[in-house]
Amino acid sequence: MMPLRTSADIAERSAHYDAVVCVQGLGFVGAAMAIAVAQATKTDGSHPYLVVGVEADTPSGRERADSLLSGTLPFTVTDDRLKDALHSAIRRGNFITTCDPSVYAYADVAIVDVHLDVDLLASPATADLTSFRAAIQTLADRMPVGSMIIVETTVPPGTTTEVVTPIVRSALARRRLDVESIAVAHSYERVMPGPHHLGSIIDYWRVYAGVNAMAAARCRQFLESVLNTEEFPLCELPSPTASETAKILENTYRAVTIALMDEWGRFAEVLGIDLFGVIDVIRMRPTHVNIREPGLGVGGYCLTKDPLFAQVALNDVFNVEGIEFPMSSLALTINGAMPSASADRLARLLEGRLEERKILVMGASYRPDVDDTRHSPSQALVRELLARGAQVTVHDPIVSNGAFDSVPIANALPNPVEFDAIVLAVAHTAYADLDVGKWLLDFDGWILDSNHVLTDEQRRRIAERSPGRIFSVGRGFQ
Ligand SMILES: NC(=O)c1ccc[n+]([C@@H]2O[C@H](COP(=O)([O-])OP(=O)(O)OC[C@H]3O[C@@H](n4cnc5c(N)ncnc54)[C@H](O)[C@@H]3O)[C@@H](O)[C@H]2O)c1
Repeated sequence: MMPLRTSADIAERSAHYDAVVCVQGLGFVGAAMAIAVAQATKTDGSHPYLVVGVEADTPSGRERADSLLSGTLPFTVTDDRLKDALHSAIRRGNFITTCDPSVYAYADVAIVDVHLDVDLLASPATADLTSFRAAIQTLADRMPVGSMIIVETTVPPGTTTEVVTPIVRSALARRRLDVESIAVAHSYERVMPGPHHLGSIIDYWRVYAGVNAMAAARCRQFLESVLNTEEFPLCELPSPTASETAKILENTYRAVTIALMDEWGRFAEVLGIDLFGVIDVIRMRPTHVNIREPGLGVGGYCLTKDPLFAQVALNDVFNVEGIEFPMSSLALTINGAMPSASADRLARLLEGRLEERKILVMGASYRPDVDDTRHSPSQALVRELLARGAQVTVHDPIVSNGAFDSVPIANALPNPVEFDAIVLAVAHTAYADLDVGKWLLDFDGWILDSNHVLTDEQRRRIAERSPGRIFSVGRGFQ
């Protein structure tokens, strides 16, 4: 089937579907969401939606759009279900991509999945909403009467009501249309890139809210047609601001609880107790099942910025002073310092000197089994080691070379004998499968397991052969 790229093509094909759904922004979230919508199925087995993924008309946007249309996601995928769903949607012909915003004129639903960055260095934190506003304007200038915008981008609370809705209303007024004729809702993603990327969208609980009862009802109806809401019921909140708050509070909670474990990890190392064993028994208590673990740090696009969005909302959206977020800010500071704390541990193992030491860092991404290196703690560790004069080699089974500005990334497993120390940084499945006895046979340097990467069996085998040569964050020497 010929790919459809122009608005006229889309207008013609849309006649065969119940509705046209445009997904604005085809990154880790938008690409997977678009595929999830394309695979929605009615009880008679037919597919209700023609899905149009719309990217920015930039070189990287065009590359993303083209890559998806040829069946390749713009990031390394370890989820076969996601890959299969993309290929099926392309074969069926109900998923297409474009960089032409005129397609929004045919959208019954537009899902906003563009990014919104926070300036992490500014004090107080600020978010530049210029490109987000422009993205909403693009929709508001074109979408038809009776359509709906669902904001999935993580935004400062208040954005849907105070920023998106006014843009939509004034665009509709300029177009001499009823200012309420486009429904506006907020529903946030809990996407977890990795082996369950698509499942984390479809088979997971969703929160939503509309700017009014009609928008909420329409959003609910749409989500029910796409997600497995029988097993994972939807949660409605009374306003988009509450829904936006839920998103940032749940990520802030996670960031704060990770930060809490940092000091307990260091405590356990000094006392020579295994904090992971301690955590296991605490998790037996149902109220404490989600207690976090110490590690190398917190990376990714979300936990590193979302705790700042409440402050951004007060400063930039509501213009309210007097409330501060000391816990959230401290959590970001502690989490950001963790890679440097692991560099200190390594320096102690190497008699206080990192200069000219040859270090192998295993794992470059911000979490296991993904190739996303945004704010990766490994990258922060590598920068720190280089700054202290070490010679650093990085291995990752998934991340492509070029993802780190400072050093190349090898995909083939290096020979360990060349190194003074190995830092295990990311718990990729490939590392759990590694025959450490064989790989480390002739290695007599130090091993720093900074992120609970080694399995009990791997640790036991290494410790048997080289007692006292492994140091684990949260465990100490073994
Ligand atoms: N990555 C995650 O795991 C995750 C999880 C939950 C929520 N989120 C949130 O989802 C949002 C998107 O995150 P992401 O990781 O997919 O970001 P991303 O940077 O990977 O993707 C965003 C995409 O939007 C495109 N874009 C920007 N402006 C556009 C426009 N005007 N029109 C069309 N496309 C445009 C960009 O080119 C880019 O490809 C963020 O708010 C993020 O916080 C991310």
